[in-house]
Amino acid sequence: HFNLQRKVDGLLREYLSQRPMNRGSLSDSASTGSNNNRMATDEGFFDHQEPQKPISAVMEKILKRKSLQLREQQLAWQETVEGQKMLEFRRGLPAYKAKEALLAAISQNQVVVVSGETGCGKTTQLPQYILESEIEAARGAVCSIICTQPRRISAMSVSERVAAERGEQLGESVGYKVRLEGMKGRDTRLLFCTTGILLRRLLVDRSLKGVSHVIVDEIHERGMNEDFLLIVLKELLPRRPELKLILMSATLNAELFSSYFGGAPMIHIPGFTYPVRTHFLENILEMTGHRLTSYNQIDDYGHDKQWKMQKQTLRKKKSQIASAVEDTLEAASFREYGSRTQDSLSCWNPDSIGFNLIENVLSHICKNERPGAVLVFMTGWDDINALKDKLQSHPLLGDPSRVLILACHGSMASSEQRLIFDKPEDGVRKIVLATNMAETSITINDVVFVVDCGKAKETSYDALNNTPCLLPSWISKASARQRRGRAGRVQSGECYHLYPKCVYDAFADYQLPELLRTPLQSLCLQIKSLQLGSISKFLSMALQSPEQLSVQNAVDYLKVIGALDEQENLTVLGRHLSMLPVEPKLGKMLLLGAIFKCLDPILTVVAGLSVRDPFLMPFDKKDLAESAKFQFAGRDHSDHLALIRAYEGWRKAETERSGYEYCWRNFLSAQTLKAIDSLRKQFFHLLKDTGLLDDDLTSRNAWSTDEHLIRAVICAGLYPGICSVVNKSKSITLKTMEDGQVLLHSNSINAREMKIPYPWLVFNEKMKVNSVFLRDSTAISDSVVLLFGGSISRGEFEGHLKMLEGYLEFFMKPDLAETYLHLKRGVEDLIQNK
Ligand code: CDP
Ligand code: MG
Repeated sequence: HFNLQRKVDGLLREYLSQRPMNRGSLSDSASTGSNNNRMATDEGFFDHQEPQKPISAVMEKILKRKSLQLREQQLAWQETVEGQKMLEFRRGLPAYKAKEALLAAISQNQVVVVSGETGCGKTTQLPQYILESEIEAARGAVCSIICTQPRRISAMSVSERVAAERGEQLGESVGYKVRLEGMKGRDTRLLFCTTGILLRRLLVDRSLKGVSHVIVDEIHERGMNEDFLLIVLKELLPRRPELKLILMSATLNAELFSSYFGGAPMIHIPGFTYPVRTHFLENILEMTGHRLTSYNQIDDYGHDKQWKMQKQTLRKKKSQIASAVEDTLEAASFREYGSRTQDSLSCWNPDSIGFNLIENVLSHICKNERPGAVLVFMTGWDDINALKDKLQSHPLLGDPSRVLILACHGSMASSEQRLIFDKPEDGVRKIVLATNMAETSITINDVVFVVDCGKAKETSYDALNNTPCLLPSWISKASARQRRGRAGRVQSGECYHLYPKCVYDAFADYQLPELLRTPLQSLCLQIKSLQLGSISKFLSMALQSPEQLSVQNAVDYLKVIGALDEQENLTVLGRHLSMLPVEPKLGKMLLLGAIFKCLDPILTVVAGLSVRDPFLMPFDKKDLAESAKFQFAGRDHSDHLALIRAYEGWRKAETERSGYEYCWRNFLSAQTLKAIDSLRKQFFHLLKDTGLLDDDLTSRNAWSTDEHLIRAVICAGLYPGICSVVNKSKSITLKTMEDGQVLLHSNSINAREMKIPYPWLVFNEKMKVNSVFLRDSTAISDSVVLLFGGSISRGEFEGHLKMLEGYLEFFMKPDLAETYLHLKRGVEDLIQNK
């Protein structure tokens, strides 16, 4: 590590002698000393408001004229054949009947809660009604309507749709903005953006100056960002009396939101869904011709703990229901069901691969039912793929050329997306396998049959062990209702719930809000950078507040990585991190990559970690794919270095016009690599704007590719995501502080190793499935942990040494320890103050 030390030392000297950052948004914050910081915290969030300037008479005239023009444009468009068609379509939507009531409520109240079934026209129509009424009132050129969406994909597709309905190009009066991407012009009056974007805007524009309407969509999902935004808006409203807030929900839990906003009026848009016949497991089994006898085997199924608990609570709750369960269970013995009893049993437990029940229902539909598309709700991508493979040539479904099986996923290619929405040719049965994302955010119009497994993979957060979990769990009644509703969009439909009615009765009414089931680090950082005061006090104002322990864990994490100081004040590093549109750990990696002049490879790592893994692992060729990935890793024991090499190889191949072939040969996703490439560019420009990059560093050649240095910066970002490595004769034992023994995900390079000749692994993510699994990891040495792990004060340094038990002897050699301490302080100062 001589090499590394010399580098760190040299860079330190060089940097410390340099001037501080010069320009850009980040440098503004860099000049805010910690004193200012604290003052701002005490001052509170909204006191900075500037009074709105009155508009001059001339300006008013100009704006009025502009508004008039907009109106004339619209009218002209509506005269055209296409415009007529659009108008007709729009008038046919259920929301149209409620238009006047909606607009009246909005004009008379500051906050309005709107609910209505998915597809009734909330997202596409309501913002347009507002825009149109503003244009009518000659305010078309001054209004500014922001409509937030929980997902990128919906912000983009909805804005496109609305622009088309208005006969415009995107970026005229309608635009969108999502992370690192957008289409928005000077005259854009209606902006669809992700909730994250609006939160980011609040960072620089605390009172949302100039915004006339904020519409928060899909609040029933109770996403973390939406819950957070609602707290901020609730604080803002009294200070911006002319700002209107509209909340939109697909389910009927409007009361909750209404009472949160002091009894805001609620408007429900009655839908026109066709009746949907509901089948629970009891009659499905009968329908598919399976009689059932005993229920002993159900206990095998009891390995599913959740089900056991469900059964127990049911027993406790109501003996009546309990006996209903018994009856159903009795009825649901799977002994005669198919020939592979085990297989069919596991269909109760959709996380394991056993699809008999689904297959039988599908076969029943294909053989006996009327035409119409089928939508199958499953738990995850793996299950979807496995079932798709199995169904593709399934004799039960009849002639394979008459069935079109499609998988639906957030990151699918757009050509594939089209197929999902398009009506197949006559006589072809479209079957779409989807996760719960098809519940509300996308709408497939020709669905007549819904098959619902009753489970969804849900992230949760184990605050006690500070570990995120991803486990399939029973859905809520609201989700089940939503899934059912997808069947009745164009005609009456059928819904097959693959669980007994009594299990449905025991479902929770609504899903637990995300705020209560995710780690809160980014959120806490945002609270601090928005100067919203004490984190725990702020979060106690949420619709439902998270556990104190979760909050504490997040604050502790931010302190460890040096984003907050001991008094919970934002540090300079913290302020920088809050400005970057990535997780704090990835942001830290970027900043350090810039400071230590190895940004180029670090850009690849950060882009890779924020998109998705470009290494493909097809089920049937897993061995080949793993070997291909292994080749990139060499003897480096690092998934991140493998990623860098794979990307570099692809870039080279691209210049030789053989990128596609390269991907094919190496089991890489060209699409993902392209996405990484474009993210890299965007991150680079962001950092350049901060003034962190000298002009002479804009050429790729100016960046170090020293592998030790890259490892060190990766460690700096991922710490405290670290586990110790102990090589046994035949296996490797990995341990983290919180979880004890952990395992490596099978896709990791290091999972294939017999021995890892390093004492530590840093990892990007850990996830509790049954055991705790680590995803991408990089092996690192003691010195790197000491120099780049976390933040340091003397006390913490000693804590560090304790953690490095077994290596104490070496590091306690007084001169060496001093050297490290000195160097590390230097690194720390550099990060915090420059
Ligand atoms: O927000 P909500 O679920 O209430 O409905 P919406 O997204 O406003 O969609 C209203 C209608 O517009 C749907 O029933 C679709 O038929 C149609 N739509 C469309 O054709 N293309 C889109 N990209 C979005 C909506
Ligand atoms: Mg919607």
